[in-house]
Amino acid sequence: MTKKLFIKTWGCQMNVYDSARMADVLAPLGYQPVDEPDGADMVILNTCHIREKAAEKVFSELGRLRILKDGKAAAAARGETDGQDGRMILAVAGCVAQAEGEEIVARAPFVDMVFGPQTYHTLPEMVAKASRAAGSVLNTDFPAESKFDFLPEEAASQGVSAFLAVQEGCDKFCTFCVVPYTRGAEFSRPAAQILAEARRLVAGGTREINLLGQNVNAWHGDGPDGGSWGLGRLVRELAEIDGLERIRYTTSHPRDMDDDLIRAHAEVPQLMPYLHLPVQAGSDRILAAMNRKHTADDYRRLVDRLRTAKPDLALSGDFIVGFPGESDADFAATLKLVTEVGYAQAYTFKYSPRPGTPAAVDGAQLSEEVKEARLAALQQLINAQQVAFNHGFIGRTVPVLFDRVGRRSGQLLGRSPWMQSVHAEANERLLGRIVTVRVDAALANSLAGTVATGEFSTSAIGPSSIGLAPTGPVTQTLEASA
Ligand code: 5AD
Ligand code: SF4
Repeated sequence: MTKKLFIKTWGCQMNVYDSARMADVLAPLGYQPVDEPDGADMVILNTCHIREKAAEKVFSELGRLRILKDGKAAAAARGETDGQDGRMILAVAGCVAQAEGEEIVARAPFVDMVFGPQTYHTLPEMVAKASRAAGSVLNTDFPAESKFDFLPEEAASQGVSAFLAVQEGCDKFCTFCVVPYTRGAEFSRPAAQILAEARRLVAGGTREINLLGQNVNAWHGDGPDGGSWGLGRLVRELAEIDGLERIRYTTSHPRDMDDDLIRAHAEVPQLMPYLHLPVQAGSDRILAAMNRKHTADDYRRLVDRLRTAKPDLALSGDFIVGFPGESDADFAATLKLVTEVGYAQAYTFKYSPRPGTPAAVDGAQLSEEVKEARLAALQQLINAQQVAFNHGFIGRTVPVLFDRVGRRSGQLLGRSPWMQSVHAEANERLLGRIVTVRVDAALANSLAGTVATGEFSTSAIGPSSIGLAPTGPVTQTLEASA
C-alpha cells in the first residue's frame, strides 16, 4: 500500500537535493511524495542551521505537526482511516537535527526520528526502528562510509535542470559558519560515480546540471584514467556527455579557484558564464577575523583573471554585514569592493552568532540597529547593480533554456546563461529546449521576452555573439583610485 510522504525543506540547494534523495531512499518502502502534511504517513522537516531562529522555526512547525499527528491517530482510533495504522512518523533531518538533536528529542519527545545529513542512506533501518520502538530514534553520526555509496539511484527524471551533489562538507572553518560542524569534513564523490549519475540524468531528460557542494570548487578526485582531477577536469568530462547543454557549479570558495577551472570558463561552451563566488566582506581586517585566508585584493585579482578568461562572466556573491568588530571603515571597504567588482546579483546577510562557532563568543558584537542599517545600504547598492545588469539586456537576444511552465497560461520560464529568470509566451513543446528570446523588459528579479527564433545551439554562445560589454579590470580600478 502506498504511504504518503511530506518533506518540508529549508535552506540551501544541498538540502533541496538531499530531500529528493531521501524520497528516493523511501520510495522502495512504499512512500510517495505528497504536497500537504495533513494525513501523511511520514513528515520530514529538512532543516537549516546557517542563520538564527532555525531551531525556533523547527519547534513551532513541530507544534503544528503534533496536532496533525494526534488528529490522525484519533481518526484511526475511530476507524476512519481506511485500515491504515493512523501513525504519522515525524522526523527532523538536516543541520538543526545534527547540531541540536538531543535538544529536539528532549523538548519534542513526540518526534520519532532525528537524524543528521550524513545518515540518509540508513533511513530504512531508522524507519524500521521507529516503527518498533517507542521514543525517538536519534542518529547524528558521521559514519565512516560515504552515504553516496549507499544511496539508491535517483528517480528517473529530475527535470530539465537538475542538481548533482559532487562535494559535501567543509574544512575551512570560517569563524562565523556552522557548516564544518553540521556537514562534517570535506568529501569529494568519486568522478566515476558523478559521471554515471550525470549520464542517467541526461538520459532522463536533464539538459542542465548544477554541480553542488558547500565548497564545490574544492572538489578533487581520482579520475577513471588514474589521474588526479580537479573540478575543471570534471567539467570538461561532463561536457562530453551528449545532450548535456549546460553546466553550472555552486558554491565556490575564492581560495579553491584554480587555473584549470578558470580556463574551463574560457574553453568549455557548456560551462555557463555565471559564478557564485562569495567574498563575505571587503575589509582585510574582517576577512582575517573571519578566517577566510585571503585578502580583498586577492579576490579582486581573481575576479580579473576570471573576466580575462570569460569577459561576460556574471558574478554573484554572499556578504555578511555586522560581523563582530566591523567598523564603519570596514563596512565602507565592503561597499567599495562591491562597487568595483560589480555583481549581477548577490545575497546579503546580517551576521548571526551561531552556537559553537568562534565569532559567536567574540566580545565585539554589534547592535541590531547597526546591522540593519548596513544591510539596507549594501542591499541598495547590490539592487542597483542587479537592475543595471538586467536593464543592459533589453533589446538583446539571449538563449533561454525553458525548464518550467509559467504561472500564466501559455507562458514558459527558463534561465539565461547568466542565471536570470526569463519568461515568454511559448509553446510547451519548447520545454527542455534552448530557445532564442528577445528581451523586452527587465523586471525586479526577472526578464520578460518574446521567442525570437527556433532553437539555439550552445556552441554559438560567446561574448561576441551576445555583445555584452566586458566589465573593466577590477585591479586597475583599484589602482587608479588608490
Ligand atoms: N551569519 C550570517 N550569515 C552567515 N552565513 C553563514 N553563516 C552565517 C552567519 N553566522 C552566510 C554566508 C554564507 C551563506 C551561505 O550564508 O554568507 O556564504
Ligand atoms: Fe562555511 Fe566558510 Fe566552509 Fe563556506 S567556506 S561552508 S562559509 S566554513
